[in-house]
Amino acid sequence: MSPPPNLITLKGKVSANQRSVRNKHSGLVVWLTGLSGSGKSTIAIDAEKALFERGFYVVRLDGDHLRQGLCADLGFSPQDRAENIRRAGEVARLFYENGAVVLASFISPTRQMRAGVRQRLPRGAFIEVYVCASLETCMARDPKGFYKSAQEGKISAFTGIDQDYEEPIRPELVLNTEADSLEQNVEKLVTRVIQATTL
Ligand code: ADX
Repeated sequence: MSPPPNLITLKGKVSANQRSVRNKHSGLVVWLTGLSGSGKSTIAIDAEKALFERGFYVVRLDGDHLRQGLCADLGFSPQDRAENIRRAGEVARLFYENGAVVLASFISPTRQMRAGVRQRLPRGAFIEVYVCASLETCMARDPKGFYKSAQEGKISAFTGIDQDYEEPIRPELVLNTEADSLEQNVEKLVTRVIQATTL
């Protein structure tokens, strides 16, 4: 989507560097992608707490949350999902520009939509994290009962059942929630965030 013409943005008087110095870290967008039930939100919730306790300016964005407000007009067609991720990416970018470490958990099922978010950010400011568990495992976990409903035909266009999920090709980090514990994955993520945001 291209912006309308004749827009002039006034430059603020607080620089990104000033924000980083005050926060004692740079901004970063951590994009957690994976199937429903893979563990994205669970990891993000614990990582948010760990980073907050270390003094980070950390913000968490979640599909289930944004879809109750900013994206309440969107469903789960490929077009609506693309718009959902575009908006989520823009919100993440605004917080990033404000100096935050953003933990964003969205299925974001296609490579193209994830690349779109990456493209809107400076190099190094976007980390794609693949939260990985097999479809069988996610279906067995089924924390919200949605896989069962999808199999019974009560929910349509469910990711992994009747819509595809495209695995990342070269994610910056893979968190395998079948092989590793929640604590191990949170530690991996937090370590990576600290590496990427140290001044
Ligand atoms: S995305 O595909 O547009 O990135 P998003 O992460 O915002 O999805 O929302 C996914 C959440 O919506 C799931 O965790 C689940 O709770 C709920 N949901 C409801 N219907 C569907 C569906 N058809 N496919 C996937 N998730 C669904």
